[in-house]
Amino acid sequence: MRLRRALLFMPGDSRSKIEKGIALGVDSIIMDLEDGVALNSKPAARATTAAALRELDFGRSERLVRINPVDSGLHLPDLEATVSARPDGYVIPKVEDALQVQVVSAWLSHAEAAQGWQPRSISLIAIVETARGVVNLREIAESDARLGALAFGAEDLAGDMGAARTPEGWEGFYARSAVVLHAKAFGLQAIDTPFVRLDDAAGLEKETRFAAQLGYTGKLAIHPKQIAPIAAAFTPTEQDIEAARRVVSAHEQHQASGIGVFELDGRMIDMPMVRAAQTVLDKARAAGLAV
Ligand code: COA
Ligand code: MG
Repeated sequence: MRLRRALLFMPGDSRSKIEKGIALGVDSIIMDLEDGVALNSKPAARATTAAALRELDFGRSERLVRINPVDSGLHLPDLEATVSARPDGYVIPKVEDALQVQVVSAWLSHAEAAQGWQPRSISLIAIVETARGVVNLREIAESDARLGALAFGAEDLAGDMGAARTPEGWEGFYARSAVVLHAKAFGLQAIDTPFVRLDDAAGLEKETRFAAQLGYTGKLAIHPKQIAPIAAAFTPTEQDIEAARRVVSAHEQHQASGIGVFELDGRMIDMPMVRAAQTVLDKARAAGLAV
């Protein structure tokens, strides 16, 4: 599956921000047609996003479009205006049940057939950011083969629940934990909520580290300066890689002598730790690092 550590949002009606985003070499670029765009600018945003997809070279960045919610009456014009420009995928906000993913997927299947493109070549990411979406996580996670990731949206969820947004985010912790758990249960990537305090670099770093510790594989970004710290938090450091290598090689030596559990640096090592070390090495390989 494609590496998605930092995914940078920008309003789909801003050609200059799209161009700026491309120049940053971020994993994924999300051109927004939903809440970052005023209602009377939706047609302009669709046209600007489609033109950018046709005209610009996105380099190694994935090209994603966030449509308006299914049932908003806006998502079909969003899809119709952009699909022929062939984005790599669509991001669906405020997903509340499996059917909302399936209707978009079925629409894309027709479009792919009509264009002669490979079936299921356009991927989907579902943002879960309402109380109903959290309650229905299981059916959403297993809704459709096109779905590659679940994303968590803390701001909308707090609004939907009448909860207060706090810097610590405990009001959304159950949902944040449930999103990553369901993603992992069904083989999906898990993408954490954006960090909206633009001038709080230490806060971003802390929140992103915690997301990585929970098992998240990436995080939404809303400003160029957030990309490097986010990408770093989801990429193993040299020390992480070295420590993982030691665990795997000690494990292999002990296995060869018929020993399953052993001690390394004062810590018991058995299969869960070996699997965790292998995950670190897999992540490093996916990021193009030598392991
Ligand atoms: N993508 C690409 N470029 C961006 C960007 C983004 N998300 N956010 C800022 N930039 C650019 C600006 O255009 C500016 O470029 P310039 O120096 O060539 O003029 C530069 O980075 C510095 O930006 P800055 O002045 O610090 O921010 P701003 O006041 O222009 O914009 C926001 C602040 C919050 C409006 C902007 O960051 C933004 O639009 N973020 C994304 C919002 C969004 O998509 N929300 C929906 C999903 S939650
Ligand atoms: Mg939202």
